[in-house]
Amino acid sequence: MAELRLENVSKVYDKNIIAVQDITFNVNDREFVVLLGPSGCGKTTILRLIAGLEEVTSGKIFIDNVCVNNISPDKRDIAMVFQNYALYPHMTVYENMAFGLKVRKLPESEIKQHVLQAAEILGLKELLNRKPRQLSGGQRQRVALGRAIVRNPKLFLFDEPLSNLDAKLRVQMRGELSRLHKTLNATIVYVTHDQIEAMTLGEKVVVINNGRIQQISDPLTLYRKPANKFVAGFIGTPPMNFIKGIIKKEENTIKFISPDITFSLNHVFEKFKDQEVIIGIRPHDFTDAAGIEFKIKVEIVEPLGEDTYIYGKLNNLIIQAKVPSARKPGSGEILILKVPEEKIYLFDAHTENALR
Ligand SMILES: Nc1ncnc2c1ncn2[C@@H]1O[C@H](COP(=O)(O)OP(=O)(O)OP(=O)(O)O)[C@@H](O)[C@H]1O
Ligand SMILES: [Mg+2]
Repeated sequence: MAELRLENVSKVYDKNIIAVQDITFNVNDREFVVLLGPSGCGKTTILRLIAGLEEVTSGKIFIDNVCVNNISPDKRDIAMVFQNYALYPHMTVYENMAFGLKVRKLPESEIKQHVLQAAEILGLKELLNRKPRQLSGGQRQRVALGRAIVRNPKLFLFDEPLSNLDAKLRVQMRGELSRLHKTLNATIVYVTHDQIEAMTLGEKVVVINNGRIQQISDPLTLYRKPANKFVAGFIGTPPMNFIKGIIKKEENTIKFISPDITFSLNHVFEKFKDQEVIIGIRPHDFTDAAGIEFKIKVEIVEPLGEDTYIYGKLNNLIIQAKVPSARKPGSGEILILKVPEEKIYLFDAHTENALR
């Protein structure tokens, strides 16, 4: 049983560096929550605050409804796998995993039981006598996880545990982590800057930018209903295209007007008239069928096998689009691509919050 709650947590480092501000979220018992955001947004800081390695400047952290602000890290029953984990090079896999328990002065028999159990779960049983230098990157990573698992903590904190693995291994370890979560029935807070990792692993994703929470939801809602322009641009590959303009009513038609494109809109957009807006279009939403027309001059063609993407110019604006599968455009070609109106995202140009 482990629930975590952060209430209005802020951290100001010395020299008035505001690392995180007003962070509030819940992690339910056995939930896998991902903190997602770009480098420097405050992810590691949040984990260090939860672990008790940093003191909060304001706000409260609760574990199982007990405020832990004044509880020391070793009494919080949390295991953290650090961003730059390091194994002890002179110790075997077994000794690396046993080390934390030895420090805690657990009886040898109990240590052995915990280590063997973790090794079983992580597929490390055959490797217990090896030294870290005799292991692959993925195996080392699993030993680092093993050191956390042997402690059987209330709560796991993972700080970008897969970031130093190559792409293929990362995908494999991602699957293993999902399985691990189910096997251990553990409560996990997992940090990453990789949106695909967040989308595939997280039951709940907390998107952070500049030390502030942007949106908390399940992965699909982040994709379909981003709360603001930041989330819209951060989730989804290739990223969403944005066009800044204004909505006007002219002679009974509602129009989106921008330097690079003007088109008419359904009357449901009337409520935004005279408002400066940013429209968003996902590269995947360009089609051959009906919709608003975009005349794009192709500059770069990226055939990725199944799909082809282009970078092209809509007047002076660079647009990235997935090309309908039958087409094989060449550089310099003019493409007319269409976007159904209901696929258009709309943001306020000033607050950048989603408008619909
Ligand atoms: N000990 C510290 N003293 C002062 N500033 C710090 C300290 N640790 C982090 N910061 C600053 O706080 C902000 C958040 O840092 P943090 O390490 O939490 O980011 P992050 O999201 O984990 O980034 P990354 O993805 O690069 O690991 C950054 O601006 C960073 O420079
Ligand atoms: Mg970090």
